[in-house]
Amino acid sequence: MQTINHWLSFETPEAVATAVCHEIVRQAQQSIAERGCFKLVLAGGSTPKLAYSLLVQQPVDWSKCFIFFGDERCLPIDDPDRNSVMAQQALLSHIDIPAQQVFIIPAELGNVEGAKLYEQQVIDAQTFDLVLLGMGEDGHIASLFPSHEHAETEFVHPVYNAPKPPADRITLSAKALSNSRELIFIITGMGKQAMIKQWQSGVQLPVSTIAPINGVDVYIDKAALGD
Ligand code: 6PG
Repeated sequence: MQTINHWLSFETPEAVATAVCHEIVRQAQQSIAERGCFKLVLAGGSTPKLAYSLLVQQPVDWSKCFIFFGDERCLPIDDPDRNSVMAQQALLSHIDIPAQQVFIIPAELGNVEGAKLYEQQVIDAQTFDLVLLGMGEDGHIASLFPSHEHAETEFVHPVYNAPKPPADRITLSAKALSNSRELIFIITGMGKQAMIKQWQSGVQLPVSTIAPINGVDVYIDKAALGD
């Protein structure tokens, strides 16, 4: 059962990004102080890009951080539409993090082979400290789409026929994404408003299947919340 701890609403996408950036820093410093490391799962899409770029100047000991991805599109490794390329351009190529601590999904190998290889890295990493997720206009999160069936035992799924191109993708499962101490949704823009209302009214969607033990926080702008 999903627990939404807070709907944190902001006037603009920029204010959302700033707040998310500060929360990531807080969580990183707390995880490193308590456990000596910070295992972070990055969201894909376009919404989180500003928050990632703001992180570059923040006081985080990146040598103690381990970066994973919630999903990836089956495209060549340097394709500008890859989530890993977005993260590299906005954040990873600007911070001093050891390359072996960044776990890029090998989606260029194809959805089946790539998922199989990444699953072991996800299993070895459990439990994450913070998972970041966006949400699509159909309520999808990562590459978990409505009406797509997946084996519940898997930590990483191959995805076929995704309604958001490209058709072939790789995604962490709801189980893997929920295995995190903290989880933040980052949602902005009027295009998400209808799905937010459905989510709030209890409609079963991929976004509502994510249920970490400590609940979730939603960082959202007024355009998406419909205030
Ligand atoms: C992807 C993302 C996807 C994204 C949502 C929201 O690969 O497309 O992982 O789940 O987070 O579609 O995308 P925007 O942030 O661009 O609205």
